Amino acid sequence: MANVVVIGAQWGDEGKGKVTDLLSRSADVVVRYQGGVNAGHTVVVQGQTFKLHLIPSGILYPDTECIIGSGTVIDPAVLIEELDTIESLGISTKNLLISETAHVTMPYHRLIDQASEERRGSKKIGTTGRGIGPTYADKSERAGIRVLDLMDSEVLQEKLNWTIIQKNVILERLYELPPLDPATVIEQYQCYAERLRPHVVDSSLKIYQAIEQKRNILFEGAQGTLLDLDHGTYPYVTSSNPVAGGACVGAGVGPTMIDRVIGVAKAYTTRVGEGPFPTELDGKLGELLCERGAEFGTTTGRRRRCGWFDAVIGRYAVRINGIDCLAITKLDVLDTIEEINVCVAYEIDGQGCNHFPSSAHRFAQCRPIYKTLPGWQKSTAECRSLEDLPKQALDYLKFLAELMAVPIALVSLGASRDQTIIIEDPIHGPKRALLDANGAPVTSEV
Ligand code: IMP
Repeated sequence: MANVVVIGAQWGDEGKGKVTDLLSRSADVVVRYQGGVNAGHTVVVQGQTFKLHLIPSGILYPDTECIIGSGTVIDPAVLIEELDTIESLGISTKNLLISETAHVTMPYHRLIDQASEERRGSKKIGTTGRGIGPTYADKSERAGIRVLDLMDSEVLQEKLNWTIIQKNVILERLYELPPLDPATVIEQYQCYAERLRPHVVDSSLKIYQAIEQKRNILFEGAQGTLLDLDHGTYPYVTSSNPVAGGACVGAGVGPTMIDRVIGVAKAYTTRVGEGPFPTELDGKLGELLCERGAEFGTTTGRRRRCGWFDAVIGRYAVRINGIDCLAITKLDVLDTIEEINVCVAYEIDGQGCNHFPSSAHRFAQCRPIYKTLPGWQKSTAECRSLEDLPKQALDYLKFLAELMAVPIALVSLGASRDQTIIIEDPIHGPKRALLDANGAPVTSEV
């Protein structure tokens, strides 16, 4: 039995969907622990492509239980659409469980998210506009609507009648938007409640019972480390905790229950939305990565900003999450490039810097110090083992593993399941290297 957390080691969109899909095969339970419909992964079933935002892709395995945990925020309209889509393909959704203590995204959350972004003008965060920040803000304010409230018609009416009056003041006076009609919203959400009721459970109890039964649990993080509310590039972050520690809070399990943390990183870096990005490539190379990597957001369709691999944030992600091993994705996107840069450190005000600075202002001043490696200029899409890889590609992977002092367990070379090199079993394989007194890795396995 192993309980594993899978997290994004960069700014989200690292390809966690494919990695969790591969690992879901050996998981009995998959738990999504934070975020909401800001996340998105593309799933191909029976030749049809569709996008999931809340439901873990583990739902496609008939015996895998999928839990949307307490730390998530749920937009019922989107969740119901996902349920309907999956069921229309003849796939059962009876194994989907929804935490009764998750918070619910309401129409005013979306409206406020979008209106406040517009007001920020050039200082905007570049949110997905899905109401995520305002839903978490109400949770912290203790003014949120939980799934439990949604399930009790009287409580829902009472809470919404009061809350919508308050929110209408904000909508009308601050943002000059039309008010919401409480009765209409209540009626709509009562309908959602009936559709979702069969799935609602005490999720932390369910997870605890699964642990007692020695079932394998996969905790699936959405977004990535640098988008973490506490540890990311604040304020250009999301409003939840995608880091591995977030799994304990968001799923309701103790840290002693987690056996392993797998970090997912692209072979280069991308970011959507605003905020500093030291290794960003503006010119032709940036476009090439975007085109070859199909770097457009699943949720908003926005073009992702692209840049070289940044080992400073990589090492930071290893530290913050306690990453045991890495899955490197989209190596094939680099196939045609002659020379590949890797950021090994930053320079700020003429000084070298090996650590990620907490201040967004200082981070914006960081200039990358690159080590240039030769490209391989051969297709890797058909490689199925390390021996199949061109020497330069193997050297590139070795260099990343050495810089981050973490073994690479898996390499992905394309969207399909078989375009993967499994070096070591990511769940039971090697753990992170020990560091010597100078912070250098004692071992440097790929
Ligand atoms: P929010 O989560 O919609 O509030 O957006 C806050 C920031 O997180 C913005 O920069 C978004 O682009 C980014 N973001 C949110 N979800 C994702 C994701 O799933 N992938 C990548 N970026 C995301």
